[in-house]
Amino acid sequence: MAKVKVEFACTACGTSSPKWVGKCPGCGEWNTLVEEVSSSSSPRQRSGMPDFPASRPVRLTEVAETAALRTSCGIAEFDRVMGGGVVAASATLLGGDPGIGKSTVLLQAARGLARHGKAVLYVSGEESEAQVKLRASRLGVTDAGIYLMSETSIERILSATAELSPGTLIVDSIQTVFSSDLPGAPGSVGQVRECAARLAFFGKKAGVSVFLVGHVTKEGAIAGPRVLEHIVDTVLYFEGEKGHPYRILKAVKNRFGSTNEIGVFEMRAEGLTEVADPSGMFLSERSGETSGTLVFPAIEGTRPLLVEVQALVSQSFLAMPRRTTLGVDYNRVILMCAILERKAGVSLYNQDVFVNVAGGIRIDEPAADLALACAVAGSFRDRVVPPGTAVFGEVGLGGEVRAVPMAEMRLNEAAKMGFARVVLPSSNAERLSAKFPLELLAVSHVKEALSRVAGK
Ligand SMILES: Nc1ncnc2c1ncn2[C@@H]1O[C@H](COP(=O)(O)OP(=O)(O)OP(=O)(O)O)[C@@H](O)[C@H]1O
Ligand SMILES: [Mg+2]
Repeated sequence: MAKVKVEFACTACGTSSPKWVGKCPGCGEWNTLVEEVSSSSSPRQRSGMPDFPASRPVRLTEVAETAALRTSCGIAEFDRVMGGGVVAASATLLGGDPGIGKSTVLLQAARGLARHGKAVLYVSGEESEAQVKLRASRLGVTDAGIYLMSETSIERILSATAELSPGTLIVDSIQTVFSSDLPGAPGSVGQVRECAARLAFFGKKAGVSVFLVGHVTKEGAIAGPRVLEHIVDTVLYFEGEKGHPYRILKAVKNRFGSTNEIGVFEMRAEGLTEVADPSGMFLSERSGETSGTLVFPAIEGTRPLLVEVQALVSQSFLAMPRRTTLGVDYNRVILMCAILERKAGVSLYNQDVFVNVAGGIRIDEPAADLALACAVAGSFRDRVVPPGTAVFGEVGLGGEVRAVPMAEMRLNEAAKMGFARVVLPSSNAERLSAKFPLELLAVSHVKEALSRVAGK
Protein backbone atom coordinates (compact mmCIF):
# COMPACT_ATOMS: atom_id res chain seq x y z
CA MET A 1 0.00 0.00 0.00
CA ALA A 2 1.26 3.47 -0.83
CA LYS A 3 2.58 5.72 1.95
CA VAL A 4 -0.13 8.07 3.23
CA LYS A 5 0.09 11.35 5.05
CA VAL A 6 -2.57 13.38 6.78
CA GLU A 7 -2.95 17.00 5.80
CA PHE A 8 -5.65 19.63 5.52
CA ALA A 9 -7.20 20.92 2.32
CA CYS A 10 -9.39 23.94 1.61
CA THR A 11 -12.79 23.02 0.19
CA ALA A 12 -12.96 26.35 -1.64
CA CYS A 13 -9.62 26.58 -3.42
CA GLY A 14 -7.90 23.23 -2.78
CA THR A 15 -4.86 24.74 -1.00
CA SER A 16 -3.30 22.20 1.33
CA SER A 17 -1.74 22.91 4.69
CA PRO A 18 0.24 20.57 6.99
CA LYS A 19 -1.81 21.70 10.01
CA TRP A 20 -5.32 22.97 10.58
CA VAL A 21 -5.75 26.73 10.51
CA GLY A 22 -8.96 28.75 10.75
CA LYS A 23 -8.22 30.91 7.72
CA CYS A 24 -7.17 29.35 4.43
CA PRO A 25 -3.68 30.61 3.47
CA GLY A 26 -4.67 30.34 -0.22
CA CYS A 27 -8.00 32.12 -0.58
CA GLY A 28 -8.45 33.73 2.86
CA GLU A 29 -11.82 32.01 3.50
CA TRP A 30 -12.58 30.99 7.08
CA ASN A 31 -13.36 27.45 8.27
CA THR A 32 -12.91 25.83 4.88
CA LEU A 33 -10.04 23.46 5.77
CA VAL A 34 -10.94 19.81 6.18
CA GLU A 35 -8.77 16.84 7.03
CA GLU A 36 -7.72 14.68 4.15
CA VAL A 37 -5.37 11.79 3.75
CA SER A 38 -3.24 12.00 0.66
CA SER A 39 -1.26 9.33 -1.08
CA SER A 40 2.36 9.92 -1.91
CA SER A 41 2.19 7.73 -5.00
CA SER A 42 2.14 9.30 -8.47
CA PRO A 43 -0.88 8.74 -10.74
CA ARG A 44 1.10 6.25 -12.79
CA GLN A 45 1.89 4.06 -9.78
CA ARG A 46 -1.68 3.96 -8.54
CA SER A 47 -3.59 0.74 -8.65
CA GLY A 48 -6.21 0.27 -11.34
CA MET A 49 -4.43 2.64 -13.71
CA PRO A 50 -3.27 0.92 -16.90
CA ASP A 51 0.31 1.57 -18.03
CA PHE A 52 0.52 4.29 -20.66
CA PRO A 53 3.72 4.96 -22.60
CA ALA A 54 5.68 7.96 -21.31
CA SER A 55 5.01 11.23 -23.14
CA ARG A 56 7.73 13.09 -25.01
CA PRO A 57 7.86 16.58 -26.45
CA VAL A 58 6.42 16.84 -29.98
CA ARG A 59 6.64 19.78 -32.39
CA LEU A 60 3.33 21.65 -32.70
CA THR A 61 3.57 21.27 -36.47
CA GLU A 62 3.98 17.51 -36.13
CA VAL A 63 0.89 16.93 -34.02
CA ALA A 64 -1.66 15.15 -36.20
CA GLU A 65 -4.98 16.92 -36.58
CA THR A 66 -7.89 14.76 -35.58
CA ALA A 67 -10.72 15.10 -38.04
CA ALA A 68 -13.80 13.84 -36.25
CA LEU A 69 -12.97 15.52 -32.96
CA ARG A 70 -16.55 16.06 -31.95
CA THR A 71 -19.32 13.51 -31.67
CA SER A 72 -22.98 14.42 -31.62
CA CYS A 73 -24.93 12.92 -28.73
CA GLY A 74 -28.15 13.13 -30.73
CA ILE A 75 -29.59 15.90 -28.54
CA ALA A 76 -29.13 19.20 -30.39
CA GLU A 77 -29.55 21.32 -27.24
CA PHE A 78 -26.90 19.27 -25.41
CA ASP A 79 -24.50 19.43 -28.36
CA ARG A 80 -24.86 23.19 -28.59
CA VAL A 81 -24.02 23.71 -24.92
CA MET A 82 -20.98 21.44 -25.34
CA GLY A 83 -19.78 23.72 -28.14
CA GLY A 84 -21.00 21.58 -31.04
CA GLY A 85 -20.76 18.00 -29.79
CA VAL A 86 -18.72 15.95 -27.35
CA VAL A 87 -14.97 16.39 -27.82
CA ALA A 88 -13.05 13.11 -27.93
CA ALA A 89 -11.10 12.31 -24.73
CA SER A 90 -12.56 15.31 -22.90
CA ALA A 91 -13.76 15.32 -19.30
CA THR A 92 -17.10 16.92 -18.45
CA LEU A 93 -18.61 17.53 -15.04
CA LEU A 94 -22.39 17.80 -14.82
CA GLY A 95 -23.77 19.34 -11.64
CA GLY A 96 -27.33 19.94 -10.52
CA ASP A 97 -29.83 19.71 -7.68
CA PRO A 98 -31.03 16.27 -6.54
CA GLY A 99 -33.69 14.86 -8.83
CA ILE A 100 -33.29 17.56 -11.48
CA GLY A 101 -32.60 14.95 -14.20
CA LYS A 102 -28.81 14.50 -14.39
CA SER A 103 -28.95 10.72 -14.76
CA THR A 104 -31.82 11.07 -17.23
CA VAL A 105 -30.05 13.49 -19.58
CA LEU A 106 -26.82 11.47 -19.54
CA LEU A 107 -28.64 8.22 -20.26
CA GLN A 108 -30.37 9.92 -23.21
CA ALA A 109 -27.02 11.31 -24.38
CA ALA A 110 -25.53 7.80 -24.02
CA ARG A 111 -28.05 6.56 -26.57
CA GLY A 112 -26.89 9.11 -29.15
CA LEU A 113 -23.20 8.49 -28.45
CA ALA A 114 -23.58 4.70 -28.66
CA ARG A 115 -25.05 5.09 -32.16
CA HIS A 116 -21.67 6.21 -33.45
CA GLY A 117 -20.42 2.65 -33.08
CA LYS A 118 -18.31 3.01 -29.93
CA ALA A 119 -19.55 1.52 -26.67
CA VAL A 120 -20.73 3.71 -23.80
CA LEU A 121 -20.06 2.54 -20.24
CA TYR A 122 -22.50 3.93 -17.69
CA VAL A 123 -21.18 3.39 -14.16
CA SER A 124 -23.64 4.08 -11.39
CA GLY A 125 -22.53 4.30 -7.79
CA GLU A 126 -26.01 5.19 -6.64
CA GLU A 127 -28.28 2.72 -8.39
CA SER A 128 -28.14 -0.96 -9.28
CA GLU A 129 -28.00 -2.09 -12.91
CA ALA A 130 -31.68 -3.08 -12.63
CA GLN A 131 -32.66 0.38 -11.43
CA VAL A 132 -30.78 2.07 -14.27
CA LYS A 133 -32.39 -0.38 -16.67
CA LEU A 134 -35.80 0.61 -15.30
CA ARG A 135 -35.10 4.26 -16.15
CA ALA A 136 -33.65 3.28 -19.53
CA SER A 137 -36.83 1.36 -20.40
CA ARG A 138 -38.98 4.35 -19.41
CA LEU A 139 -36.87 6.59 -21.63
CA GLY A 140 -36.91 4.08 -24.48
CA VAL A 141 -33.12 3.66 -24.37
CA THR A 142 -32.51 0.14 -25.58
CA ASP A 143 -29.19 0.34 -27.46
CA ALA A 144 -26.92 -2.68 -27.20
CA GLY A 145 -23.88 -0.39 -27.29
CA ILE A 146 -24.61 0.84 -23.76
CA TYR A 147 -23.00 -1.12 -20.91
CA LEU A 148 -24.11 -0.71 -17.30
CA MET A 149 -22.02 -1.26 -14.20
CA SER A 150 -22.92 -0.66 -10.58
CA GLU A 151 -19.58 0.08 -8.95
CA THR A 152 -17.91 2.58 -6.63
CA SER A 153 -14.28 1.47 -6.59
CA ILE A 154 -12.17 3.65 -8.88
CA GLU A 155 -9.70 0.82 -9.42
CA ARG A 156 -12.42 -1.52 -10.66
CA ILE A 157 -14.03 1.19 -12.77
CA LEU A 158 -10.70 1.96 -14.45
CA SER A 159 -9.79 -1.65 -15.10
CA ALA A 160 -13.28 -2.41 -16.47
CA THR A 161 -13.06 0.65 -18.74
CA ALA A 162 -9.59 -0.30 -19.95
CA GLU A 163 -10.89 -3.80 -20.75
CA LEU A 164 -14.08 -2.67 -22.53
CA SER A 165 -12.38 0.28 -24.27
CA PRO A 166 -15.57 2.35 -24.75
CA GLY A 167 -15.78 5.73 -26.52
CA THR A 168 -17.53 7.29 -23.52
CA LEU A 169 -17.47 6.64 -19.80
CA ILE A 170 -20.23 8.08 -17.57
CA VAL A 171 -19.67 8.05 -13.81
CA ASP A 172 -22.81 8.79 -11.79
CA SER A 173 -21.77 10.26 -9.37
CA ILE A 174 -18.17 11.26 -8.59
CA GLN A 175 -19.09 11.64 -4.89
CA THR A 176 -19.80 7.90 -4.60
CA VAL A 177 -16.50 6.77 -6.12
CA PHE A 178 -13.59 5.98 -3.82
CA SER A 179 -10.04 4.75 -4.02
CA SER A 180 -8.69 2.11 -1.68
CA ASP A 181 -5.33 3.95 -1.79
CA LEU A 182 -6.89 6.65 0.33
CA PRO A 183 -8.53 5.87 3.68
CA GLY A 184 -10.97 8.86 3.50
CA ALA A 185 -14.69 8.21 3.05
CA PRO A 186 -16.26 8.48 -0.44
CA GLY A 187 -17.30 12.07 -1.07
CA SER A 188 -14.47 13.56 1.04
CA VAL A 189 -12.39 16.29 -0.56
CA GLY A 190 -9.35 14.07 -1.07
CA GLN A 191 -11.32 11.17 -2.52
CA VAL A 192 -13.37 13.30 -4.92
CA ARG A 193 -10.35 15.21 -6.16
CA GLU A 194 -8.19 12.13 -6.57
CA CYS A 195 -10.86 10.03 -8.29
CA ALA A 196 -11.84 12.84 -10.68
CA ALA A 197 -8.18 13.47 -11.53
CA ARG A 198 -7.60 9.77 -12.23
CA LEU A 199 -10.69 9.51 -14.42
CA ALA A 200 -9.80 12.64 -16.40
CA PHE A 201 -6.17 11.50 -16.79
CA PHE A 202 -7.30 8.06 -17.90
CA GLY A 203 -9.77 9.56 -20.40
CA LYS A 204 -7.11 11.77 -21.98
CA LYS A 205 -4.62 8.93 -22.30
CA ALA A 206 -7.04 6.24 -23.46
CA GLY A 207 -9.08 8.52 -25.75
CA VAL A 208 -12.29 8.05 -23.75
CA SER A 209 -14.73 10.96 -23.23
CA VAL A 210 -15.55 11.05 -19.53
CA PHE A 211 -18.72 12.45 -17.99
CA LEU A 212 -18.85 12.89 -14.23
CA VAL A 213 -22.05 13.66 -12.37
CA GLY A 214 -21.46 15.97 -9.41
CA HIS A 215 -23.75 16.67 -6.47
CA VAL A 216 -24.27 20.30 -5.55
CA THR A 217 -24.07 21.82 -2.09
CA LYS A 218 -26.87 23.79 -0.44
CA GLU A 219 -25.35 26.96 -1.89
CA GLY A 220 -25.60 25.50 -5.38
CA ALA A 221 -21.89 24.86 -6.04
CA ILE A 222 -20.63 21.42 -7.05
CA ALA A 223 -19.81 19.55 -3.83
CA GLY A 224 -16.16 18.83 -3.25
CA PRO A 225 -13.14 21.00 -3.90
CA ARG A 226 -13.30 23.86 -6.40
CA VAL A 227 -10.26 22.25 -8.03
CA LEU A 228 -12.66 19.66 -9.41
CA GLU A 229 -13.67 22.35 -11.91
CA HIS A 230 -10.02 22.79 -12.93
CA ILE A 231 -9.51 19.08 -13.47
CA VAL A 232 -12.24 18.79 -16.10
CA ASP A 233 -12.54 20.51 -19.49
CA THR A 234 -16.20 21.41 -19.28
CA VAL A 235 -18.48 22.15 -16.34
CA LEU A 236 -22.21 21.97 -17.02
CA TYR A 237 -25.03 22.88 -14.68
CA PHE A 238 -28.49 21.46 -15.02
CA GLU A 239 -31.02 23.83 -13.50
CA GLY A 240 -34.73 24.27 -13.11
CA GLU A 241 -37.31 25.63 -10.74
CA LYS A 242 -39.13 23.27 -8.42
CA GLY A 243 -42.63 22.70 -9.83
CA HIS A 244 -41.65 23.73 -13.37
CA PRO A 245 -41.13 21.02 -15.98
CA TYR A 246 -38.48 23.16 -17.72
CA ARG A 247 -34.80 22.44 -17.33
CA ILE A 248 -31.90 24.57 -18.48
CA LEU A 249 -28.48 23.18 -19.27
CA LYS A 250 -25.65 25.68 -19.24
CA ALA A 251 -21.88 25.57 -19.39
CA VAL A 252 -20.01 27.56 -16.74
CA LYS A 253 -16.64 26.47 -18.09
CA ASN A 254 -15.83 25.12 -21.52
CA ARG A 255 -12.32 24.64 -22.89
CA PHE A 256 -13.77 23.84 -26.31
CA GLY A 257 -16.62 26.29 -26.73
CA SER A 258 -18.57 29.27 -25.52
CA THR A 259 -20.01 29.39 -22.02
CA ASN A 260 -22.96 31.53 -23.06
CA GLU A 261 -25.07 28.88 -24.71
CA ILE A 262 -28.03 27.33 -22.97
CA GLY A 263 -30.07 24.24 -23.77
CA VAL A 264 -33.75 24.18 -22.85
CA PHE A 265 -35.54 20.93 -22.04
CA GLU A 266 -38.91 19.86 -20.76
CA MET A 267 -39.15 16.97 -18.29
CA ARG A 268 -41.78 14.46 -19.34
CA ALA A 269 -42.56 10.89 -18.30
CA GLU A 270 -40.74 9.63 -21.40
CA GLY A 271 -37.67 11.71 -20.48
CA LEU A 272 -36.27 15.10 -21.34
CA THR A 273 -37.50 16.54 -24.60
CA GLU A 274 -35.80 19.43 -26.36
CA VAL A 275 -37.62 22.72 -26.54
CA ALA A 276 -36.86 24.11 -29.95
CA ASP A 277 -38.90 27.29 -29.43
CA PRO A 278 -38.03 28.51 -25.92
CA SER A 279 -39.60 31.97 -26.42
CA GLY A 280 -42.99 30.36 -27.02
CA MET A 281 -42.48 28.22 -23.93
CA PHE A 282 -41.52 31.07 -21.61
CA LEU A 283 -44.44 33.17 -22.78
CA SER A 284 -47.03 30.39 -22.97
CA GLU A 285 -48.66 31.19 -19.63
CA ARG A 286 -48.59 34.95 -20.04
CA SER A 287 -51.99 36.56 -19.56
CA GLY A 288 -50.95 40.05 -20.70
CA GLU A 289 -53.60 41.77 -18.62
CA THR A 290 -51.59 42.30 -15.43
CA SER A 291 -49.78 45.46 -14.44
CA GLY A 292 -46.07 45.18 -13.77
CA THR A 293 -45.36 42.44 -16.29
CA LEU A 294 -43.67 42.87 -19.63
CA VAL A 295 -41.62 40.98 -22.14
CA PHE A 296 -37.86 41.31 -22.50
CA PRO A 297 -36.03 39.94 -25.56
CA ALA A 298 -32.96 38.39 -23.93
CA ILE A 299 -29.91 36.91 -25.64
CA GLU A 300 -28.57 33.65 -24.25
CA GLY A 301 -25.34 32.84 -26.04
CA THR A 302 -26.13 33.13 -29.69
CA ARG A 303 -29.86 32.69 -29.32
CA PRO A 304 -32.61 35.21 -28.61
CA LEU A 305 -35.18 34.34 -25.99
CA LEU A 306 -38.31 36.25 -25.02
CA VAL A 307 -38.90 36.14 -21.28
CA GLU A 308 -41.50 37.68 -19.05
CA VAL A 309 -40.30 40.04 -16.33
CA GLN A 310 -42.77 40.45 -13.47
CA ALA A 311 -42.75 43.04 -10.71
CA LEU A 312 -45.03 43.51 -7.75
CA VAL A 313 -44.85 46.72 -5.75
CA SER A 314 -46.93 47.01 -2.60
CA GLN A 315 -46.95 49.33 0.37
CA SER A 316 -44.48 48.27 3.03
CA PHE A 317 -45.19 48.08 6.72
CA LEU A 318 -41.56 47.42 7.56
CA ALA A 319 -38.94 49.94 8.68
CA MET A 320 -36.74 48.61 5.84
CA PRO A 321 -38.94 47.92 2.81
CA ARG A 322 -38.27 44.58 1.19
CA ARG A 323 -36.53 44.03 -2.17
CA THR A 324 -36.85 40.42 -3.30
CA THR A 325 -35.61 39.10 -6.64
CA LEU A 326 -35.87 35.76 -8.42
CA GLY A 327 -34.06 35.17 -11.69
CA VAL A 328 -32.41 38.62 -11.80
CA ASP A 329 -29.46 40.18 -10.00
CA TYR A 330 -30.54 41.69 -6.68
CA ASN A 331 -28.16 44.65 -6.96
CA ARG A 332 -29.45 45.48 -10.42
CA VAL A 333 -33.00 45.76 -9.07
CA ILE A 334 -31.84 47.96 -6.17
CA LEU A 335 -30.07 50.17 -8.72
CA MET A 336 -33.20 50.45 -10.89
CA CYS A 337 -35.31 51.33 -7.83
CA ALA A 338 -32.86 54.12 -6.94
CA ILE A 339 -32.86 55.44 -10.52
CA LEU A 340 -36.67 55.37 -10.67
CA GLU A 341 -36.83 57.24 -7.36
CA ARG A 342 -34.36 60.00 -8.29
CA LYS A 343 -34.72 60.34 -12.05
CA ALA A 344 -38.31 59.37 -12.80
CA GLY A 345 -40.25 60.43 -9.72
CA VAL A 346 -41.36 56.92 -8.79
CA SER A 347 -41.33 57.01 -5.04
CA LEU A 348 -40.48 53.55 -3.74
CA TYR A 349 -39.00 54.36 -0.30
CA ASN A 350 -42.07 52.96 1.50
CA GLN A 351 -42.83 50.16 -0.96
CA ASP A 352 -41.91 46.49 -0.97
CA VAL A 353 -40.60 45.47 -4.40
CA PHE A 354 -40.65 41.89 -5.68
CA VAL A 355 -39.21 41.01 -9.09
CA ASN A 356 -39.42 37.64 -10.80
CA VAL A 357 -38.50 36.22 -14.20
CA ALA A 358 -41.21 33.73 -15.15
CA GLY A 359 -40.31 30.17 -16.14
CA GLY A 360 -37.31 29.71 -13.86
CA ILE A 361 -34.75 31.26 -16.20
CA ARG A 362 -32.01 33.63 -14.99
CA ILE A 363 -31.27 36.92 -16.73
CA ASP A 364 -27.85 38.50 -16.18
CA GLU A 365 -27.73 41.04 -19.00
CA PRO A 366 -27.64 44.82 -18.39
CA ALA A 367 -29.98 44.96 -21.41
CA ALA A 368 -32.77 43.91 -19.03
CA ASP A 369 -32.47 47.18 -17.03
CA LEU A 370 -35.17 49.06 -18.88
CA ALA A 371 -37.59 46.12 -18.70
CA LEU A 372 -37.00 45.86 -14.94
CA ALA A 373 -37.52 49.60 -14.45
CA CYS A 374 -40.69 49.63 -16.57
CA ALA A 375 -42.10 46.57 -14.79
CA VAL A 376 -41.50 48.07 -11.32
CA ALA A 377 -42.95 51.47 -12.33
CA GLY A 378 -45.86 49.75 -14.10
CA SER A 379 -46.77 47.79 -10.98
CA PHE A 380 -46.39 50.88 -8.78
CA ARG A 381 -48.70 52.90 -11.03
CA ASP A 382 -50.92 49.90 -11.73
CA ARG A 383 -50.63 50.35 -15.50
CA VAL A 384 -50.98 47.47 -17.90
CA VAL A 385 -48.37 47.53 -20.65
CA PRO A 386 -50.19 47.44 -24.02
CA PRO A 387 -50.24 43.80 -25.18
CA GLY A 388 -47.68 42.95 -27.82
CA THR A 389 -44.97 45.25 -26.40
CA ALA A 390 -41.39 44.20 -25.68
CA VAL A 391 -38.77 46.35 -23.92
CA PHE A 392 -34.98 46.31 -23.83
CA GLY A 393 -32.14 48.71 -23.05
CA GLU A 394 -29.45 49.41 -20.48
CA VAL A 395 -30.10 52.20 -17.98
CA GLY A 396 -27.26 54.39 -16.68
CA LEU A 397 -27.18 56.05 -13.26
CA GLY A 398 -28.35 59.32 -14.78
CA GLY A 399 -31.49 57.62 -16.07
CA GLU A 400 -30.15 57.65 -19.64
CA VAL A 401 -30.98 54.65 -21.83
CA ARG A 402 -27.90 53.14 -23.45
CA ALA A 403 -27.39 50.94 -26.48
CA VAL A 404 -27.15 47.18 -26.01
CA PRO A 405 -25.55 44.50 -28.19
CA MET A 406 -27.48 42.38 -30.71
CA ALA A 407 -30.49 44.70 -31.01
CA GLU A 408 -31.44 43.32 -34.43
CA MET A 409 -31.53 39.76 -33.18
CA ARG A 410 -33.85 40.84 -30.36
CA LEU A 411 -36.13 42.69 -32.79
CA ASN A 412 -36.24 39.70 -35.13
CA GLU A 413 -37.31 37.40 -32.32
CA ALA A 414 -40.00 39.85 -31.16
CA ALA A 415 -41.32 40.12 -34.72
CA LYS A 416 -41.22 36.33 -35.13
CA MET A 417 -43.26 35.87 -31.95
CA GLY A 418 -45.94 38.28 -33.19
CA PHE A 419 -45.08 41.37 -31.14
CA ALA A 420 -46.33 44.69 -32.50
CA ARG A 421 -44.02 47.22 -30.84
CA VAL A 422 -40.67 47.37 -29.12
CA VAL A 423 -39.27 50.02 -26.80
CA LEU A 424 -35.54 50.26 -27.46
CA PRO A 425 -32.59 52.64 -26.91
CA SER A 426 -32.58 55.46 -29.51
CA SER A 427 -28.86 54.86 -30.12
CA ASN A 428 -29.74 51.30 -31.20
CA ALA A 429 -32.69 52.49 -33.31
CA GLU A 430 -30.44 54.90 -35.26
CA ARG A 431 -28.04 52.15 -36.22
CA LEU A 432 -30.50 49.56 -37.48
CA SER A 433 -29.68 48.40 -40.99
CA ALA A 434 -32.75 46.29 -41.66
CA LYS A 435 -36.47 47.08 -41.64
CA PHE A 436 -38.65 45.34 -39.07
CA PRO A 437 -42.42 44.79 -39.19
CA LEU A 438 -42.65 46.41 -35.77
CA GLU A 439 -43.45 49.82 -34.34
CA LEU A 440 -40.12 50.97 -32.90
CA LEU A 441 -40.40 53.28 -29.89
CA ALA A 442 -36.91 54.75 -29.52
CA VAL A 443 -36.19 56.26 -26.10
CA SER A 444 -33.14 57.96 -24.62
CA HIS A 445 -34.24 58.39 -20.99
CA VAL A 446 -35.98 56.06 -18.57
CA LYS A 447 -38.73 58.67 -18.04
CA GLU A 448 -39.50 58.61 -21.74
CA ALA A 449 -39.77 54.83 -21.67
CA LEU A 450 -42.14 54.95 -18.70
CA SER A 451 -44.41 57.40 -20.50
CA ARG A 452 -44.67 54.86 -23.35
CA VAL A 453 -45.44 51.79 -21.26
CA ALA A 454 -46.12 52.67 -17.64
CA GLY A 455 -47.98 55.98 -17.67
CA LYS A 456 -46.63 59.44 -16.79
N1 LIG B 1 -42.27 7.92 -14.15
C1 LIG B 1 -41.91 9.17 -14.24
N2 LIG B 1 -42.66 10.05 -14.91
C2 LIG B 1 -42.29 11.33 -15.04
N3 LIG B 1 -41.18 11.85 -14.56
C3 LIG B 1 -40.39 11.02 -13.87
C4 LIG B 1 -40.70 9.67 -13.68
N4 LIG B 1 -39.70 9.11 -12.97
C5 LIG B 1 -38.81 10.09 -12.71
N5 LIG B 1 -39.22 11.24 -13.26
C6 LIG B 1 -38.54 12.53 -13.24
O1 LIG B 1 -37.16 12.32 -13.24
C7 LIG B 1 -36.56 13.04 -12.19
C8 LIG B 1 -35.37 12.30 -11.67
O2 LIG B 1 -34.43 12.28 -12.69
P1 LIG B 1 -32.96 11.76 -12.43
O3 LIG B 1 -32.98 10.51 -11.63
O4 LIG B 1 -32.30 11.75 -13.75
O5 LIG B 1 -32.38 12.94 -11.54
P2 LIG B 1 -30.94 13.08 -10.95
O6 LIG B 1 -30.57 14.50 -11.14
O7 LIG B 1 -30.04 12.05 -11.51
O8 LIG B 1 -31.20 12.82 -9.41
P3 LIG B 1 -30.17 12.34 -8.29
O9 LIG B 1 -29.38 13.55 -7.90
O10 LIG B 1 -31.06 11.91 -7.18
O11 LIG B 1 -29.36 11.25 -8.87
C9 LIG B 1 -37.62 13.17 -11.14
O12 LIG B 1 -37.44 14.32 -10.36
C10 LIG B 1 -38.87 13.26 -11.96
O13 LIG B 1 -39.11 14.61 -12.30
MG1 LIG C 1 -29.04 10.45 -10.60
